[in-house]
Order: sequence, then structure tokens, then C-alpha cells
Amino acid sequence: MTEYPRPDRFSLAPGYEISRVLRGNWQLAGGHGAVDRAEAVEDMIAFADAGITTFDCADIYTGVEELIGQFRAQYLNRRGAEALAEVRVHTKCVPDLSKLGTLTRDQLQDTIDRSRRRLGVERLDLVQFHWWDYAAGDWLQAAQWLEEFRIEGRLQFVSGTNFDTDHVSAMLAAGVPLRTMQVQYSLLDRRPEKRMAELAGEAGINFLCYGTVAGGFLSDRWLGQPDPGAEIENRSLIKYKLIIEDIGGWDLFQALLVTLRRIADAHGTDIATVASAALLTRPLVAGVIVGARNRAHLASNLAISALKLRAIELAEIDAVLAQGRDLEGDVYTLERDRTGRHGAIMKYNLNKEEA
Ligand SMILES: NC(=O)c1ccc[n+]([C@@H]2O[C@H](COP(=O)([O-])OP(=O)(O)OC[C@H]3O[C@@H](n4cnc5c(N)ncnc54)[C@H](OP(=O)(O)O)[C@@H]3O)[C@@H](O)[C@H]2O)c1
Repeated sequence: MTEYPRPDRFSLAPGYEISRVLRGNWQLAGGHGAVDRAEAVEDMIAFADAGITTFDCADIYTGVEELIGQFRAQYLNRRGAEALAEVRVHTKCVPDLSKLGTLTRDQLQDTIDRSRRRLGVERLDLVQFHWWDYAAGDWLQAAQWLEEFRIEGRLQFVSGTNFDTDHVSAMLAAGVPLRTMQVQYSLLDRRPEKRMAELAGEAGINFLCYGTVAGGFLSDRWLGQPDPGAEIENRSLIKYKLIIEDIGGWDLFQALLVTLRRIADAHGTDIATVASAALLTRPLVAGVIVGARNRAHLASNLAISALKLRAIELAEIDAVLAQGRDLEGDVYTLERDRTGRHGAIMKYNLNKEEA
């Protein structure tokens, strides 16, 4: 791995640095092919050794917190405490939709304690709070409980994911100090720029971005390919195909890939690396979370933060995208409509009781 640069680091707080390229782990939770658990732990070790030391997961990613717990134990054994101290794990707290109306403080604390047990940590690094339906139950009270758990030492930072601007604003007003917001933010999806960026800038909230390679669509693999229609191999691609359709369709997407390829040629790199690197140039973006099923794309993802795109290249990308449409609504508005195309493909009750 030594021939690749280590990704840049970003300081979220004094003494708390993350790698600007984070490893996404949803792909290990099912729906993206079989997972060899021993191999998955070896992959995580390879990522951490190479400098991608920050891992994203969730309480609802089936089996993934346990896998990361195994990785942490192995990493400590093989590389020692100093190396393990570089590793950050950002999990999520995602209460089931069916439980929102009756959620108690004790139940929420149980899920936090379960994440601590699974990950093998006394204190969780950073917990990203998600709430499926603003109209069901008391989401603001739950956010305040998380802040209480932070004060008690169960977690270091309270953060959020997929909240819109008004709800972020309400949490801040209620005294919940959100450190980051994890949002879908990519060349295809610029909804965070509409309203949330201004609030985040004022409040000192950084973005952690998912979807920067659109499940793999933003890569050389799809350059010059025909529209796959409904023949799509995994849940991630199904999700991002809807985004491609909404912003203007397959022809516009192909025009974007052609432009990204031209820029990639100028830098001797690939389309996916350019697509993620472009997001790192946006204000407030602390890091890009790139999903990984294995270590096939590790080398390419290590190159992301070292790639410095020129203003003219970013303008060329913008010029292509200007021919399309902006996605409707604020952050996650489309996905919150459970009867709509984006919301209907989600799974809402994955946070099963621990066996
Ligand atoms: N907060 C939320 O609601 C939320 C939602 C979604 C995701 N996330 C988090 O964000 C992470 C990433 O987002 P995502 O799941 O939407 O997926 P993504 O990062 O947009 O796409 C990941 C997929 O893209 C392909 N890929 C990755 N690097 C590549 C490269 N350099 N070149 C070519 N292809 C590449 C791989 O597919 P192949 O292996 O098939 O090649 C990989 O599985 C997730 O793992 C999860 O941790 C959070």
C-alpha cells in the first residue's frame, strides 16, 4: 500500500481527526452480494493500514457493528493501541419506524449501549441520529436524550443524518450540538447547497457525504453503456438510478461521464476518483464516505484527497449539470415520502432486538 498517498485528514474537534475519505460499510449489511466475514475484517485492516481510518456504519446495518468490533480487536492485536487510536467509527442511531410513536429514553439508551457492546468501545465516537417520520413520535425529545447520553459519556459527538434544514435548526435551538450532518451530496445531488449549507456554516456543522460515486454509477464502468433500465444488480444502484432519472436521464448522465473522463485523463486517474474529489472542494465538506464491498477500489479511493481539481474543471462539470434539473426539495425530502419512488424502496424496521 505504500505507493499510494495516505488520504488527507480533517479535524472535527481538537484531538479528533478523521480521514477525509471514509469507508462506508452499508454494502456489508446484505443486498450487495455474500459477505465472507473473515475476509471483510482483513479488508478493514487493509483500509486502516492505508490511511482510510474512519469507518461509517449504523445500528441497522445488519451484522456490521459486530464486524467492525472484530476488526478493532484484530487491529489492536496486530498493530497496537497507538494505531487503533487513529481509528474512528461513526455509527448511526436509527429507531425503527414502527417504534417511533412509543420510543422511551430507556429504549434509546439500550440501542446506544448495544452499539457500544458490538463495537467493543466504552464511548462511541460519533453517533448520527436519523428519524424516519417527523410526524411520528417526538424526534426532538429523542435528540435531546442523545445529548444527555453524550454528557453521561456514552458517546463523544452527537450528529445527524438526513434531517432537513428546518429540523437541524430546531435541534440546534433545543441545545443539541450537532457536530456533523451526514447527507447525500454528490455531483448528482446538490440539495444540501439549497438551504442547509448556510445554516451549517453559521452553526459550525460539517458535512459527511454519501453517494459521491452514486453506488458505482459515477465510474468508468458505466461510461458508454446503454441505460440498464430496471436490470440493476444491487439496492444501491436502484436508489441512484432514480436520482439519475430525476436530474435529466441517461443521456445527460453519459455527458457527465464523458466530461469526468476527460478530466480524469488530464490527471491520470479514473472517473470515480474525480467524482469524489469534486465534493471535497465544496465548502463545509469534511469527508466523503465511499461504500466498499471489498478492497477492489481501495487504491482508487486512496487517491481522492490527493487529486486537486482546477477551477476550470469544476466549471466544466457544472456546465454539464446545468443542462439538467435540480432535485426537488430539501435534504432527504424525496426519500421521506414513503409512497413516492424514492421512499418506497427503503427498509424502515431493521433495528431488531439483539438476539
Ligand atoms: N445516512 C444514510 O442514510 C446513508 C445512505 C446511504 C449510504 N450511507 C453510507 O455511505 C456509504 C456510501 O454510500 P452508498 O452506499 O450510497 O454508496 P457509494 O459510495 O455511492 O457507492 C459504493 C459502491 O460504488 C462502487 N465504487 C466504490 N469506489 C469505487 C471506485 N473507486 N471506482 C468504481 N466503483 C467504485 C462499489 O461498487 P462495486 O463494489 O459494485 O464495484 C461500491 O460498493 C455507505 O456504505 C454507508 O456507510 C449512508
